[in-house]
Amino acid sequence: MSRSRHTKAEDYIARLFGRESPHHLAIREALDRDGKEGINVGAAEGAILRFLLGLIKAKTVVEIGTLYGYSTLYIAESLPTGGKVISLEKNAEHHAQAKKLLERTPQANKIDLRQGDALETLKSLGDIQADAIFIDADKPNYANYLEWALKHVRVGGLIIGDNTFLFGHMIGDDRGQSTSASAIASMKTFNESLANNPDFRAVIIPTFEGMTVAERLY
Ligand code: SAH
Ligand code: DHB
Ligand code: MG
Repeated sequence: MSRSRHTKAEDYIARLFGRESPHHLAIREALDRDGKEGINVGAAEGAILRFLLGLIKAKTVVEIGTLYGYSTLYIAESLPTGGKVISLEKNAEHHAQAKKLLERTPQANKIDLRQGDALETLKSLGDIQADAIFIDADKPNYANYLEWALKHVRVGGLIIGDNTFLFGHMIGDDRGQSTSASAIASMKTFNESLANNPDFRAVIIPTFEGMTVAERLY
């Protein structure tokens, strides 16, 4: 079973620039085995994340929503030696799978996995400053994650959100995937806040799912 969905453009980008390591492949195989392939970002989206984080020379990245660590591995690959991606996951089984799959990769020493509800874990991080925050967990909480991100991303840093077309619901493209009123309200707030915040310059990269990227200017 695969629920992977992407555009032909993303397939092309993935073939050219996605450059999946055997470790990425092993993660996708585990996801596929468990009927979860396609919840992860695609290889083209992973390559975009890695590219953007490399450009800003990110050293500390917070990821919300680990799943099995597929996006985590692309993020880790963008980091210099000594860099860290702190990745938050509520589901204990997902967290355990990610731990098992990532600890055998060459990026393991850049990866810090935390199990628990993200809003609680974020509180426990205290006054941390992040170079970038990648939001890819429960959609009704995107507005809450943004509130945290606004306080913790450095000037020149990035706030990145996946699925910001909300499965087509933001763009009048009914793909038959249901969502909740709270997810719709939260995603509207997320995109509109970043579009209208003078401290940020934001765009949506038009992947199939939509990837909002905002740079903090001030
Ligand atoms: N970033 C991953 C995919 C994440 S899927 C990748 O591209 O490979 C979304 C994940 O968010 C799921 O594993 C889900 O369990 C987790 N999640 C949902 N609600 C959460 C919450 N409140 N706190 C932390 N994680 C949560
Ligand atoms: C789903 C979640 C995601 O973050 C994603 O990128 C694709 C699908 C889902 O819950 O179906
Ligand atoms: Mg996603």
